[in-house]
Amino acid sequence: MPQTHSNRSVLVLAGDGIGPEIMRQVMRVMEFFDKKRIASFDVTEGLVGGSAYDADGVPLTDATLAKAQASDAVLFGSVGGPKWEKLPFELQPERGLLRLRKEMDLFANLRPAQVFEALADASSLKRELVSGLDLLIVRELTGGIYFGNPRGIETLPDGTRRGINTEVYTEAEIERVTRAAFELARKRQKRLCEVDKANVMESGLLWREVANRVHADYPDVALSFMYADNCAMQLVRAPKQFDVIVTSNLFGDLLSDCAAMLTGSLGMLPSASLGAADASGRRKALYEPVHGSAPDIAGKGVANPLACILSFAMMLRYSFDLAEEASLVEDAVRRALAAGVRTADILQPNTARVSTRVMGDTILRELENVA
Ligand code: IPM
Ligand code: MG
Repeated sequence: MPQTHSNRSVLVLAGDGIGPEIMRQVMRVMEFFDKKRIASFDVTEGLVGGSAYDADGVPLTDATLAKAQASDAVLFGSVGGPKWEKLPFELQPERGLLRLRKEMDLFANLRPAQVFEALADASSLKRELVSGLDLLIVRELTGGIYFGNPRGIETLPDGTRRGINTEVYTEAEIERVTRAAFELARKRQKRLCEVDKANVMESGLLWREVANRVHADYPDVALSFMYADNCAMQLVRAPKQFDVIVTSNLFGDLLSDCAAMLTGSLGMLPSASLGAADASGRRKALYEPVHGSAPDIAGKGVANPLACILSFAMMLRYSFDLAEEASLVEDAVRRALAAGVRTADILQPNTARVSTRVMGDTILRELENVA
């Protein structure tokens, strides 16, 4: 077969726990795209998290970081596990992920929460509250209390200790992520809700001010504000009121787990982390499932690969401008679910429980039908 040249470089970092087994299924989807001449990718694999620590003594080597910086996109599995929990803070698997986000300057984290019709009954909320739900959380990912200084644990003169972290945002940091959220809202239902604690935190006041200012450039988008605690409550009370939410790193972390559960399974949710566009329009980007490494089920072949497969679909859409191809993948997932094929985490009455690998087989078969 003639070789199709590809200039789409993808660094695959499968990571720890269930990361490698779900990633294997994504690689099969990528191979399918290649074989069918739909799109091809130059795939390189690397280590991150605990597996990188085991091999190289750090959760992310400089060499892997450099490869990530040079790739068009990074596809990330998951990191962490009990094996590495006792390591010093700086060597823990999560630091590898946080370093990637920070050094690649991936400030806009897109976390969609979409309910697949076949799974509407798997949500812990009533079907009518979540059926048709399609919201997007845009989480600031490189600033705020995750990275602010001062930080640390210090000993006071009386010998007791105190722990310190700092919520800090510059106008520029708020502006770029808010702009990204307005742009996304513009392509959706044109409603943006900025979420903060402006009633308690000055940084929240600044978020509101900047969002209002940026709004002038997006008069077609309706802007509203909400306090983060109320937002948590509204997400479980009436989630369909939201289109796009933009918020800080920490609030986005909390609210996106909450939004994820509305969809019936954390195992279903993809995410994209994007940097600023350069002169040629290229953005650094990392795609990862929202779920973690699930050490309790790792290696058993039962994990749900769909969030990672859907993260690949986001890669097609946001890094490679392949929206139709992304839809192919999303349709294949929809049809597999509609056919009653389920991994354990989304098992429902009258559906068939399958392994990670068989879920991968099913997606490939559905792709075969539509591609
Ligand atoms: C997430 C995770 C990470 C975070 C952890 C693993 C560092 O919870 O991506 O939401 O807190 O950002
Ligand atoms: Mg989280």
